[in-house]
Amino acid sequence: MAARPPAFDQVKSEAFAGRVLEDTSMCMVTLMAALGDRLGLFKSLATSGPSTSVELAARTGVSERYAREWLGGMTAARYVEYDPDSGRFALPPEHASTLAQEDGPFFVGGQYQTMLAAIAQIGRVEEAFRTGGGVPQSAYDDSLWDGQARVSARWAENLLTQVWLPALPEVQTKLKRGAAVADVGCGRGLALIKLALACPNSYYVGYDLFEPAIARASENARAAGVTDRVRFQQLNAANGLPAQFDVITTFDVVHDAADPHGLLRAIRQALRPDGIYVCVERNCSDTLEENIGPIGALSYGMSLFYCMTTSLAAGGAGLGTLGLPETRLRELCIEAGFRCVDRLPLENPFNAFYGIKP
Ligand SMILES: C[S@@+](CC[C@H](N)C(=O)[O-])C[C@H]1O[C@@H](n2cnc3c(N)ncnc32)[C@H](O)[C@@H]1O
Repeated sequence: MAARPPAFDQVKSEAFAGRVLEDTSMCMVTLMAALGDRLGLFKSLATSGPSTSVELAARTGVSERYAREWLGGMTAARYVEYDPDSGRFALPPEHASTLAQEDGPFFVGGQYQTMLAAIAQIGRVEEAFRTGGGVPQSAYDDSLWDGQARVSARWAENLLTQVWLPALPEVQTKLKRGAAVADVGCGRGLALIKLALACPNSYYVGYDLFEPAIARASENARAAGVTDRVRFQQLNAANGLPAQFDVITTFDVVHDAADPHGLLRAIRQALRPDGIYVCVERNCSDTLEENIGPIGALSYGMSLFYCMTTSLAAGGAGLGTLGLPETRLRELCIEAGFRCVDRLPLENPFNAFYGIKP
């Protein structure tokens, strides 16, 4: 006898329709907020206090009609607060830390920028669904990298030397004493520059296969005045590193790599026998069931729109944003010739931290 289909649950159906409406609304709210970030509207509200649409428009050089409509949307979303008596709109300080405080620990502007640049490739991503392959890194415009650097600034400015480095006393000691350090997949070099400012006795090299990132990283090093001890080089690190190092780092790189095995092998081979590899990867679980939730959904989205898709475009493994949970990373590290993989007891919803030794 054929199994009876499960009874249709009307209450569940209506609750789900409501939930999808909420998500659709939040998508529009996020797009409006991203405009607010691009146009400096949140920052202006944060610095100048409660404002009318006329005042905000005048300060930011936008059309008043657009400012008024945007303020309406942000008020409806409860991102800003409206006082009908004065006709003024305010960004509460508790919201400003997320929406207007560039480089602050909760700032979300970089994420908005990265998302907008990533979803601009929706046509090519759709094509890749149908035909396989992917979208090459070079297809994305510069604003994706600007956004990525703003996202990274959040931890580079607030956590790297204040929280993460002290949690790795062995690495901290090496860096303070003077060590040869490589950051593989360095992007625009924020992490190395911060480390070089905090630990000036060490010598630092950043490698990235994406030439525009290296050019910007070198500019950033000049601006920070650390070119005496920091340099950047364009290189596909999966083909090997050209020197030996005491400390090698990767921040959010291995899951993106076309050849994660090759990359880890190259890192292992370039590490001195008493060296340490610090790997920062996504904090995720082995099973899809345990990745359910807002961070999981956001990560799968970024994977489709960038991480998995750029790796597949290079004929790579396409691990995806959530493709390197602890168990998988351990397996890959052991295959690459490492013997000891320690997960550090650092609580962070987005990142997992590993100290890895030969
Ligand atoms: C998500 S970004 C992270 C950038 C930087 N670590 C940060 O956190 O801001 C990943 C970076 O890894 C680089 N990358 C990926 N595979 C690489 C490889 N085989 N060799 C060198 N760089 C690589 C990419 O070009 C990209 O800049």
